[in-house]
Amino acid sequence: MGSLLVDDIGELVTNVAGTGDGGPLGLRRDAAVLIEDGRIAWVGPARYAPAADRRVDAQGGAVLPGFVDSHAHLVFAGDRAAEFAARMAGEPYTGGGIRTTVGATRAASDGQLRATVRRLVGEAMRQGTTTIETKSGYGLTVADEARSLRIAAEVTAETTFLGAHVVPAEYAGRPDDYVGLVCGPMLAAAAPYARWVDVFCERGAFDADHARAILTVGQAAGLGVRLHANQLGPGPGVQLGVELGAASVDHCTHLSDADVDALAGSPTVATLLPGAEFSTRSPYPDARRLLDAGVTVALATDCNPGSSYTSSMPFCVALAVREMRMTPAEAVWAATAGGARALRRDDVGVLRPGARADLIVLDAPSHLHLAYRPGVPLIRQVLHNGVPQCRS
Ligand code: NIG
Ligand code: FE
Repeated sequence: MGSLLVDDIGELVTNVAGTGDGGPLGLRRDAAVLIEDGRIAWVGPARYAPAADRRVDAQGGAVLPGFVDSHAHLVFAGDRAAEFAARMAGEPYTGGGIRTTVGATRAASDGQLRATVRRLVGEAMRQGTTTIETKSGYGLTVADEARSLRIAAEVTAETTFLGAHVVPAEYAGRPDDYVGLVCGPMLAAAAPYARWVDVFCERGAFDADHARAILTVGQAAGLGVRLHANQLGPGPGVQLGVELGAASVDHCTHLSDADVDALAGSPTVATLLPGAEFSTRSPYPDARRLLDAGVTVALATDCNPGSSYTSSMPFCVALAVREMRMTPAEAVWAATAGGARALRRDDVGVLRPGARADLIVLDAPSHLHLAYRPGVPLIRQVLHNGVPQCRS
């Protein structure tokens, strides 16, 4: 593979706290990065850069770790553009459209699902995402959940079993029976392809008892816990997640003081998904309240055909800054190192020797421009495992 030197970097975001400018982003000027065998081999002043076989000239642009999108739902068929239009005309979002996507997903071939997942992963990559999590949850039969995860696992190691997304129509009025299916044969078929287990813990989806049962058997099967919690209203999800040692509780839009306190005293990350509030025209979560309490915050897209059909982490960074009172530095950290924490990964979201050589070059001199120039395609180059992906 040979070595590769990235130089002429305007500003390097390392996320190594205390280095460079001394802040959480570990900002360095006049730095260069050496890559060998898909990993970062050296970071230091450009004037001391070792010789390398090849060179990437950042042309004075900022260089950051690739985005870590720790929450997406990419295995589905069809879209729900008409449902979006109805919402923009005043209809509320209830999650009821999930069943529409379940019908389309069950009817799709493996090839159709694979093509959609690959298209969205490529779309995300062109916008700087080098690690992406994806969930099942639109199959909701033993066979359809297993094939969703099998297809997801072809493109990412971060796969999540979300058989408990909603109770499918054929189990209407029999949620206990459906939870029995999820905990038994569905988990057994899904687990070989999954790293995580997730539940949509919300009024109208699964209550705390059901969520606890599913997450506990998932844990016993070797899966890590994450949770959709407190999205549409207050509820028990966040505290249940903390109690079970979840890596992350996601959405966190409606939180009590006790929820914030529980998160602050725990290693569980609060993953905020502002694309969902944007696309459902809902109030945004209060990131400032969480950060001021000392909670670790991640940002992710929630990319799915219903509540948030965006694969763009730069868009989420801009929303978080403008609408959720995060500073640009906090939002960039949350979209990179925060996502890595939410996935319990220490090899991504950071640029230090030994980490994966996943990095992005901006067509702008500083990370500030990601929020300052919303909607502008600023990702000039993406390196994934040290391999240049695209040049736009
Ligand atoms: O994270 N909240 C539950 N699941 C998705 C939405 C799924 C859908 O509407 O299709 C979410 O927002
Ligand atoms: Fe989601």
